Amino acid sequence: MESLYQQLALEMKARIETGVYVAGQRLLGVRSVARMRGVSVATAVAAYQVLTDTGYIEARSRSGFYVLTRHSIQAIEPKAIEKTAPPQLVTGQAMAMALIKAANDPSIVQLGAAVPDSSFLPTHSIGRALVQVIRTQRTQSASYMMPPGAVELRRQIARRMGESGSTVSADDIVITTGCQEALSLALRAVTKPGDVVAVESPAFYGLLHVMESLGLEALEIPAHPRNGIVLDTLAFALERWPVKACVFSPNFSNPLGYCMSDEAKHALIRLLEKHKIPLIEDDVYGDLGFNQRRPSTCKGLAPNADILYCSSFSKTLAPGLRIGWVAAEGARRERIEYLKYVTSIASPTVPQLAVAELLANGRYERYLREVRGKYASAVARMSDVVMQIFPSETRISQPQGGFVLWVELPEGVDSFALARRAIDQGVSVAPGPLFSAAGKFSNFIRLSSARVWDARMESALVTLARLI
Ligand SMILES: Cc1ncc(COP(=O)(O)O)c(C=O)c1O
Repeated sequence: MESLYQQLALEMKARIETGVYVAGQRLLGVRSVARMRGVSVATAVAAYQVLTDTGYIEARSRSGFYVLTRHSIQAIEPKAIEKTAPPQLVTGQAMAMALIKAANDPSIVQLGAAVPDSSFLPTHSIGRALVQVIRTQRTQSASYMMPPGAVELRRQIARRMGESGSTVSADDIVITTGCQEALSLALRAVTKPGDVVAVESPAFYGLLHVMESLGLEALEIPAHPRNGIVLDTLAFALERWPVKACVFSPNFSNPLGYCMSDEAKHALIRLLEKHKIPLIEDDVYGDLGFNQRRPSTCKGLAPNADILYCSSFSKTLAPGLRIGWVAAEGARRERIEYLKYVTSIASPTVPQLAVAELLANGRYERYLREVRGKYASAVARMSDVVMQIFPSETRISQPQGGFVLWVELPEGVDSFALARRAIDQGVSVAPGPLFSAAGKFSNFIRLSSARVWDARMESALVTLARLI
């Protein structure tokens, strides 16, 4: 049974969806709503918070709450591609380096890299935690923190994973240098060069880069923009090809932003168990759902399944901390620990201890509660503007978490050419073919909305619309 504030939020959502409240309209203040509906001000505030977090309305400073246009425009989703092509070696990903380097250029409006602008990150708390570690643990700060990594941090991660249903302990966790290294170690633990690995399509390009460097073949499994991996196609592909591992992001995949239901996650796990194929679960966006309830993980739903869970604090606390981890059991965990040592001996000590402190003192959870709503608003706002100023055939994803949008441009648009011309004009976008080993998605781009909304951002979108 829904509580009072949830009922109120649901009613208001229905009014927005049916056009009773229109885009741009200023809503009544919380006190007036409370008076008219006979509820407490706290209930009205909580209902408005739900609507803000889910991208229906936004709070404008000193002005009140306004309806966002996203739900009345009816953004069209990109078509899911239902077929799968034979596996193929991942090649040609080096061209992504120009895009990756552009991420450090302050003169460029960064819509390409999925890196949050520092204004979204808790940089003050991070700074304080880093300084405190260096002051209070001076000798340890300067030493190697040998794999599996700082026990304080592993305990905190295990505690948080337990809250989303997982039974992993601190001993099952190996700290890595970001989620990218976690994915690389997990792949190396279960494959050898030439093996076939199933990935979602479109897939995060960093994963494809890792696969290229390991000489792996990618079998691209289509993902539906809202429901996730197309399980019938995956089942068919597993019968047909000698797949050695799957790498999927069931929660808020990059770039589509879908969140698979628990039912679909269970079906995925059953399918992989039937074929005895390990799942490498990338949950790097799992904490960034627009709905405040954290979604389940495959690892949590099936503690005994062969799942190597990978994540990091790059999308939440800060990418520069480079703190990620793999959670796996038994021989898998031991192999990963060894591979971590072989690759880089250890991850830096100070960030590990600082992140442990931010998790232990509750700062991380408080920050997540704030930032989820901010990302929901940023995504909704960018989505509205794109739908208004891009050509009318444009389709756009409706992510349920994270901060990126997957945009299908009219057929015939060459997104690589667009990305090159956009960089010349000071705007970066990620072209679609980067997200596919087979170079699909030539008329797609990914946009990151985790930027301060200002005149520069608006004019960057106008530039893109003009170039398209
Ligand atoms: C889906 C996904 N996995 C992994 C990573 C890599 O994360 P990290 O910066 O922690 O290495 C990213 C970064 O963009 C990502 O989007």
